[in-house]
Order: sequence, then C-alpha cells, then structure tokens
Amino acid sequence: MSVPVAVLVSGSGTNLQALIDATQEPDHPARIAVVLADRPKAFGLERARRAGIPTAVVLKRDHPVRASYDEALVAALREHGVEWVCLAGFMKLVGAPLLEAFPDRILNIHPALLPSFPGLHGPAQALGYGVQIAGATVHVVDAGTDTGPIVAQGAVPVLPSDDEDTLAGRILSGVEHVIYPRALRWAAEGRLRVVRDQPRARVVVDGDAERFVFAAG
Ligand code: GAR
Repeated sequence: MSVPVAVLVSGSGTNLQALIDATQEPDHPARIAVVLADRPKAFGLERARRAGIPTAVVLKRDHPVRASYDEALVAALREHGVEWVCLAGFMKLVGAPLLEAFPDRILNIHPALLPSFPGLHGPAQALGYGVQIAGATVHVVDAGTDTGPIVAQGAVPVLPSDDEDTLAGRILSGVEHVIYPRALRWAAEGRLRVVRDQPRARVVVDGDAERFVFAAG
C-alpha cells in the first residue's frame, strides 16, 4: 500500500513535477493523492491534471481569518486521506491548525542552504551576500519560517555571471529536483525521525541515505 501524500503549490510546480515523476515509478512507496493550490492559475494544477491527480484550490480571500484558512487546508487534506504534506513553492506560511494536524509530517523545500537565507528570494539573498556555494534544503516544517529540522541539502556553485534567475534555475534543476523526491521516499518508507534530545530538533534518516548532493555547475 502506497502512502497518500499531498503537494501544495503556488506557482510553476517544477518540484511537483519531480515528485509526480518519482511517484509514478513502479513500487514507489508514496502516491500523490491531491494537489492543493492557493492560486487558481498556478501551473502546478495543470501538471496535476495532466497526471490524473485530483486538485483543489483554497483561496485566502475566502478565509480572511488566518486559522480558518489553515482549517480549510486541513479539511481538504483529510478528505483525501493524506498522511504527509509536501510544500513545493507554496508561498503561504503554515499555521498552527495545519502543523497540529500533521505533526512532523509536513516537508518544505527552500532554495537556500539553511539556516542561511530563510524567507523570500533565497537565491537573491545568497548573491547579495557574495557566497560562492548556494543550494537548497528540504526540511520538516515547524512554527518558524524555514527553521525546521533539515532532511537533505544540495549545493551548487555560484558563478560570476549569475543573476537571481540563473542561480535560482541552477538550484532548481541541479539539486531541488533531486533532493525532494529522495526526501519524500524516505518519509513514505517511514525512515524520517525528528529527534528532540539535542539543543535543536534534528532529523535522523534510518538506514542508508545520501542526504546531500553537489551539482557542479
Ligand atoms: C522553488 O525554488 C522552491 O524552493 C521555492 O519556490 C520555488 C518553486 O518552484 N520555495 C520557496 O522559496 C519557499 N520559501 P516550483 O514551483 O517550480 O517548484
């Protein structure tokens, strides 16, 4: 039995596509049961439809109170029997109702090597700082912004000619599309554990797991 997961998107959905492609492999331990978006025009919805995956749109303007927006998301997720949630370019902060409904079962991908450059425009922040190595992080979502325990990371070089778009594109295709499917597989296999006996919560992946990739240019 494959584990039902949801993917939440706001935009293009290339990470969603990587997750769709991975979960369509034979014997994959996860299946995408629903794709949710906060914008009706998110191209990710179209990717889901093409793959025959149910979709739903939950609009912020229909839920002016913050908690009620999260509750609407939870209701949609419950309707599809979801066990894990993947945020894939979902540009809304996750509130308490969602976190409490899926404790340590929400993953996010962020286009920076956390804990550096959380929040918006990770690649632009990295360029502005002059770092020479940039990348992406899959983490378990907690109540902070991009602060949750790290599952996997991928690194790419920053080139002298880079602007935000070229760096963001290298991070996306070079590492995001590799580490997110890996992380989802571990989650669905029941191999992700959040350990809280350290100064900070940390993720342990049981068994063999390549938790970083380096895409050389
Ligand atoms: C990805 O780079 C993802 O890491 C980023 O948005 C992009 C979505 O691309 N997420 C964030 O910045 C969240 N803070 P996609 O729609 O093609 O997957």
